[in-house]
Amino acid sequence: MTFRFYFLIGMNVIILLSYVYYRGKIQYSKLRYLEENCRKQLRHEEVVKSMPSALQQNVSAIFNKIDKMVPSVTFTHVNNTTSAKNSRATLLNPQKKYCIGDNLTVQLDMYDYSGNPKTYGGDFFRSRIYSPELKAAASGRIEDLNNGTYLVHFTLFWEGRVKFSLMVYHPSEGISALWRARHASDGVISFQGKFKYGSQEAITKCGFRLDEPDDKLCKYLDHRDEESIHCVKIPNLPCESLTYMKCVFHNPTYLTALEKQLFVRSNIAVEISKTFEYVDVGKCNNRKEGNKEKCRTGMDSPFPSGYFLKNEWHPVFCKMSSYKTSDQINSCLQGKKLYLIGDSTLRQFIMYFTEVAKNMQYFNHPFGGFAYWEKTLLAINMEKNIYVHYKRHGFPLESDSFYYFMEDTYTSRQIDQHAGGKDTIIAITMGQHFRQFPLPLYIRRMVNIRRAIERLFLRSPDTKVIIKTENARDINTHVERLGEFHGYTQYLVMKEVFHGLNVGFIDVWDMSNGFATENVHPQLHLLQNIMSLAFTYAC
Ligand SMILES: *[C@@H]1O[C@H](CO)[C@@H](O)[C@H](O)[C@H]1NC(C)=O
Ligand SMILES: *[C@@H]1O[C@H](CO)[C@@H](O)[C@H](O)[C@H]1NC(C)=O
Ligand SMILES: *[C@@H]1O[C@H](CO)[C@@H](O)[C@H](O)[C@H]1NC(C)=O
Ligand SMILES: *[C@@H]1O[C@H](CO)[C@@H](O)[C@H](O)[C@H]1NC(C)=O
Ligand SMILES: *[C@@H]1O[C@H](CO)[C@@H](O)[C@H](O)[C@H]1NC(C)=O
Repeated sequence: MTFRFYFLIGMNVIILLSYVYYRGKIQYSKLRYLEENCRKQLRHEEVVKSMPSALQQNVSAIFNKIDKMVPSVTFTHVNNTTSAKNSRATLLNPQKKYCIGDNLTVQLDMYDYSGNPKTYGGDFFRSRIYSPELKAAASGRIEDLNNGTYLVHFTLFWEGRVKFSLMVYHPSEGISALWRARHASDGVISFQGKFKYGSQEAITKCGFRLDEPDDKLCKYLDHRDEESIHCVKIPNLPCESLTYMKCVFHNPTYLTALEKQLFVRSNIAVEISKTFEYVDVGKCNNRKEGNKEKCRTGMDSPFPSGYFLKNEWHPVFCKMSSYKTSDQINSCLQGKKLYLIGDSTLRQFIMYFTEVAKNMQYFNHPFGGFAYWEKTLLAINMEKNIYVHYKRHGFPLESDSFYYFMEDTYTSRQIDQHAGGKDTIIAITMGQHFRQFPLPLYIRRMVNIRRAIERLFLRSPDTKVIIKTENARDINTHVERLGEFHGYTQYLVMKEVFHGLNVGFIDVWDMSNGFATENVHPQLHLLQNIMSLAFTYAC
């Protein structure tokens, strides 16, 4: 402020002195012309700089929407944060008898560790109903009344004894801190690039933004999509010789010591004390399940979007077929090309084809499991003319060993390269490798992907596009770097961005929440259901 003030005074003095000096030499009108022109120019440049692009406006609008949902609270002692054990879950309007299809509401009244009622909302929950012996489960929908009371809405989808799990995953005070921490830096992992030029090799620092003057940087820019990657220049090695990339963990933290106390394992995903254990649900014969339409692209996916029964997923809004066996998968994919663009959770598809269903063979990849997981993969069934291609979604990638970077292409650019058509299926997923960075980065990717899909549909409206959300993962993960709340906000972004587009939406967040997944890579039953929904949409 003071610097600016003195700077302006100084500038005025200089202008005044020059004006006095030159007055005799240059005509007054000419000087005035120059001065005005210069000011106009300046003003124009300022406008250009301060006006966000349409893309940036889109990103900001979505960010602000999510930001409004996140609590902004502070606390001075852990005793004044939400305690799951002190909180109470009660069954609202308990019935003598419950029937399939009934809705049931649980009320949550939250208290802190000192036993005081909470007066604001924002707690992050995991809520589900389940029947272990029936291998049945479904998510509950949380309604935040913003005064320390919440309603959890369940639909009783199956017959039998239904149990409840109502967990405080993180207290609102922790959520507020995590959200602030996520946006306190450009990210909590950093990168190293390896430059290779003839026999020379060198390693340098890379990232989205680096604190170096422009002439010390190699810039890898995508102007249309407003994406950038930077590396610190290495003398004598051209920028084009960047060949490999890896990430570096240094786990910086933007949480205070007090806030960290909220994220000790014993305070994550804690069950709320319940005044009830279960309800028994009967068939009642008074309601028959309507004949649901086959799942098509373009259908709205509500929350919850379905339920598991005998480990089979039943979407609530459409009818899903099973694509598990070699024959079933071939019946969908025969004569088709399937492009998988994403991360290792989508790579599980091609692993399933080649290693479980065994209806396809890898091209030159004699390894099993996740070996060389960052690599581009190709699997083929020559007899049925099936072509499956897996490629990662592009920078960033949380890989702590060097991978071949020049293969990286943003997902939007990958989509642009496809002609599409009725025999092309493109499945996309993204999220786990973005939890480490501020949310706007993820939003920008999603908006760019949406735009690329819109362009693809102009060329080839009959291309099948499948959008798979990221899944919930293990509890013991590094909260600030990979935590579930970061993933949840990304899930909300994905729902928002792809709404209304003619794509098949797979709500794996919902599925893995209901399933209580404890693995970043969904286990076999879950994976089979994800694939079945994808191929029901696509075929
Ligand atoms: C994003 O941009 C498109 C077109 O420019 C516009 O139709 C849409 O409403 C925008 N969305 C948001 C959330 O700003
Ligand atoms: C917790 O909050 C209450 C008021 O809501 C206050 O009286 C109390 O001092 C606080 N306790 C701690 C340990 O900060
Ligand atoms: C916090 O709560 C515990 C248990 O209720 C109590 O023993 C402790 O004295 C409280 N601490 C403060 C600072 O209020
Ligand atoms: C349960 O709730 C859903 C969604 O809110 C609604 O569509 C359905 O009709 C309700 N079912 C009953 C039996 O009230
Ligand atoms: C919270 O708000 C709801 C709806 O306005 C009300 O019914 C409930 O009693 C309130 N709870 C508390 C603890 O104030």
